[in-house]
Amino acid sequence: MTLQAPPAAVARRPAARSVTRLLPEDEPVPVTGTAADLAALVGAGDVLVLTGAGMSTACGIPDYRGPRGAFRHGHVPMQYADFVGSAEGRRRYWARGLVGWQRVAAARPGPAHEAVAALERAGLVRCVVTQNVDGLHQAAGSAVVTELHGGLHRVVCLDCGAVLPRAQFDRRLDAANPGFAARTAALVDTRQVNPDGDVELPEEALAGFVVVPCPVCETGRLKPDVVFFGETVPRERVARCYDALAASRSLLVLGSSLSVMSGYRFVRAAVRAGQPVAVVNAGPTRADADLVPGRDVRLDAQLEPVLGELVASLTLPAASAHESSGALAPR
Ligand SMILES: NC(=O)c1ccc[n+]([C@@H]2O[C@H](COP(=O)([O-])OP(=O)(O)OC[C@H]3O[C@@H](n4cnc5c(N)ncnc54)[C@H](O)[C@@H]3O)[C@@H](O)[C@H]2O)c1
Ligand SMILES: [Zn+2]
Repeated sequence: MTLQAPPAAVARRPAARSVTRLLPEDEPVPVTGTAADLAALVGAGDVLVLTGAGMSTACGIPDYRGPRGAFRHGHVPMQYADFVGSAEGRRRYWARGLVGWQRVAAARPGPAHEAVAALERAGLVRCVVTQNVDGLHQAAGSAVVTELHGGLHRVVCLDCGAVLPRAQFDRRLDAANPGFAARTAALVDTRQVNPDGDVELPEEALAGFVVVPCPVCETGRLKPDVVFFGETVPRERVARCYDALAASRSLLVLGSSLSVMSGYRFVRAAVRAGQPVAVVNAGPTRADADLVPGRDVRLDAQLEPVLGELVASLTLPAASAHESSGALAPR
């Protein structure tokens, strides 16, 4: 998931190592802030919210780089070149995904998603740009959401371009592999889902697994409609998000280490344009040194209490909130 994709020919193990790199933990954070600073920034309205995997850790979907993140126990995410270039790579992904997807599909939005939706309803959030692929912002009721890296709940045909619901594809995969789901559930702890929506399966569990082709063109290779590591985010999707950022007053980053360039670039663009930035994340982010003291806000904290307090302070009974700050005035 990077705009600086390596050439396909080299996007295998060395690239896998570079994407799994963790940020240093002991760098001092030059900018800090308080809950009141955050409320002032968000209360001024017209906020673009950029979210990452930290939004969904409370919902049972692990992140990559947090204290219990998938990269801390050696998980290597699927690379675009491995998926597209190898029938075996696709077979492995879909076998593991058939099990893992059930977990992601069953996840419900958490307090952080609910808080972002409440801020949108209060007229303070212009739009949400999420790096997440789990669909939980939409499930929480956020109306204006761009999935920067796509969504696991759709599949796309690499050959004819058809886009289909994941649930429909899963039913066909399940029918083509009778007994597979039950056999693997007995072999692995299916609660240990990876952020990519798959689970670790022993090689022997994959034996005989059959991948079904695209039902539209009847031969095509189906891929989850997500941007894999080593793949480029569609240019027009990025452009739409940058236009939305340019039209916003400020940028609020929630639960992302910003290690991935496609997210980090939003902070750089906002800083260049002189737009205030707030970052709420437990642990370091790649953008910490870019933030501007005296203007930007950085809270090294868990999202849930911070956002709970923020919503409570900004969504007071409408009349008094209007009188005190005008923050809830409709857009
Ligand atoms: N749920 C998902 O859809 C999912 C899960 C993992 C990764 N991904 C994708 O992989 C890429 C990884 O980048 P990223 O920056 O989003 O993830 P990341 O793992 O690099 O960073 C997540 C950050 O969130 C922090 N965090 C975790 N729980 C938190 C909480 N409750 N409160 C505050 N902070 C918390 C972690 O310490 C970490 O710094 C992105 O494209 C991402 O969307 C998606
Ligand atoms: Zn097709």
